[in-house]
Amino acid sequence: MERPFPTVAVVGLGTMGAGVAVALARSGRRVIGVEAGPTQALRALDRIEASTARAVERGRLEAGERAALLALIEVGDDLAAAAQADLVVEEVPEDLELKRALFAELDRICPPETVLATGTTALSVTRIAAATARPERVLGVHFFNPVHTMRLVEVVRTVLTDPQAAERVAELARDLGKEPVAAGDRAGFIANGLLFAYLNQAAAMFESRYATREDIDAAMRLGCGLPMGPLALLDLIGIDTARTVLEAMYAQSGDRLHAPAPILGQLAAAGLLGRKSGRGFYAYEAPGSSKAVAEGSADARPRAAGREVRSIGVCGSGTMATGIVEVFAKAGLPVLLAARSQEKAERAKAQLARSLERSVAKGRLSGQARDAALALVTPIGSYRDLAEVDLVVEAVAEDLAVKRELFAALDGIVKPGAVLATTTSSLPVVSCATATSRPRDVVGMHFFNPAPAMKLVEVVSTVLTAEDVTATVLELCAKVRKHPVECGDRAGFIVNALLFPYLNDAVRMLQEHYATVDDIDTAMKLGCGYPMGPFELLDVVGLDVSLTIEQVLHQEFREPGLAAAPLLEHLVAAGCLGRKTGRGFRDHARR
Ligand SMILES: NC(=O)c1ccc[n+]([C@@H]2O[C@H](COP(=O)([O-])OP(=O)(O)OC[C@H]3O[C@@H](n4cnc5c(N)ncnc54)[C@H](O)[C@@H]3O)[C@@H](O)[C@H]2O)c1
Repeated sequence: MERPFPTVAVVGLGTMGAGVAVALARSGRRVIGVEAGPTQALRALDRIEASTARAVERGRLEAGERAALLALIEVGDDLAAAAQADLVVEEVPEDLELKRALFAELDRICPPETVLATGTTALSVTRIAAATARPERVLGVHFFNPVHTMRLVEVVRTVLTDPQAAERVAELARDLGKEPVAAGDRAGFIANGLLFAYLNQAAAMFESRYATREDIDAAMRLGCGLPMGPLALLDLIGIDTARTVLEAMYAQSGDRLHAPAPILGQLAAAGLLGRKSGRGFYAYEAPGSSKAVAEGSADARPRAAGREVRSIGVCGSGTMATGIVEVFAKAGLPVLLAARSQEKAERAKAQLARSLERSVAKGRLSGQARDAALALVTPIGSYRDLAEVDLVVEAVAEDLAVKRELFAALDGIVKPGAVLATTTSSLPVVSCATATSRPRDVVGMHFFNPAPAMKLVEVVSTVLTAEDVTATVLELCAKVRKHPVECGDRAGFIVNALLFPYLNDAVRMLQEHYATVDDIDTAMKLGCGYPMGPFELLDVVGLDVSLTIEQVLHQEFREPGLAAAPLLEHLVAAGCLGRKTGRGFRDHARR
């Protein structure tokens, strides 16, 4: 097959256009750049020369390659030059009327077979296409910034776009070394559509003072492996830009979760637009700087000191309990591993020994450290022996009746002043607390799986938790080298309340046939730098577990947009639970 689009016009050579022009010329294509006027054209050329010179300095490009690609780019200010192109890529500012006028003009100038592509992020491609007499040859081509490193390209079709034209643009993207995904015409397309709804919830969570900006950001980085926390990312994107994208999404979806959080409007109105203005959710050294500076905390009250913790009890014998015991023992704390029978406790300790052995084999732990950790763990078959420990972590089945029964039992056994912690991920901590006669001593300590590897612990205080109990758990986390974040006792805490609505949105996108499983996963990995796509993650977490969390979140907040996607319910009903059953969103058995 011949190379698609040997000559491409790029209209608008700002941040995106200049990057796209370089990528095209690098693939050996002739590029006709068009700017708004002669001064802008000169500036655009400077930009292209400077960015390619930097690429040579950094070893990303050979000097010879640079000379060859620069020779392929011409820049002027006469739109008529676009008539010679096989494809026109528009990258002018995000303004519907500007883009529509430009497309009407291009439609008059270019031969009927020329394909016209818009670089819009959140405007309607259909409305831009409607300004021309060739809507079948108009589509969206959404690159990501910076173009030279970001591999994702969303190829956006309207209902009128000729599929062949879209396929040729996808082919062009592959030829540029990019990964094209197919999307329909909806504000935000795939990646931003999923990303911005989540960013908006994070902004709202901050605004409601549920957690601090640092804790929200740390929770998502450490709990989900995301490259940046949501509030830091909003500052990078620009609060004004984020608001514009969300407004466009809300106008189309009517989903309240897309209505920009009021805090975004307040920050924008105050000129606090993020990094570019030196302050947004965080304050930066200077406008344009990426270095956040510490500010005096609004809550400068001295914290209560924690209680002393010299010995710990962990209740349970499953994955979480065993992992949590490992965390404490490796940090040098004596642990009683309490299960329902001595046999179960012994088995859990054997499991722990295997885990430590794997660490030794991988060179992460010395044989001596393994022996020392194991020597600190005593398996016990009855909770009676927990009488003298300073802190108990409960990690038994995720069932409120079972947990309440255990807390009532612990209340009768454990010495006064001991801290009682639950590692529940979806049940109310306060319901565990009220099963005891000492609700002030009960707190949530939500570890992530696998506990030895995951750095995050959500420390959940109920309305009854004593300050020194929260402080005890925060101090303990520091001692065992975990990163604690503090939050209140509501469904999902920080991480799940932000993660699962996003996963649910992805399922809804699939259910509406907006994009495929593979394209959605690719868009989030390449467009947002996520370690896994939403469907990969759902299959790992388990569809049944995910459905339960989504139901709990919907039950708590009653937000219509949080209702679990019917497709997820259907898959669970059909027994497709993810990797554990061999089939979820993907068929793992056949791989
Ligand atoms: N910046 C991003 O991160 C990003 C990412 C993906 C997509 N986009 C989208 O890409 C498009 C371009 O955004 P940008 O960030 O590159 O903007 P920008 O402001 O950096 O560049 C726009 C360029 O268009 C030129 N221009 C304005 N009117 C023109 C006209 N009539 N004819 C020719 N040139 C004209 C301007 O002089 C400027 O150089 C927008 O639709 C934006 O939403 C931006």
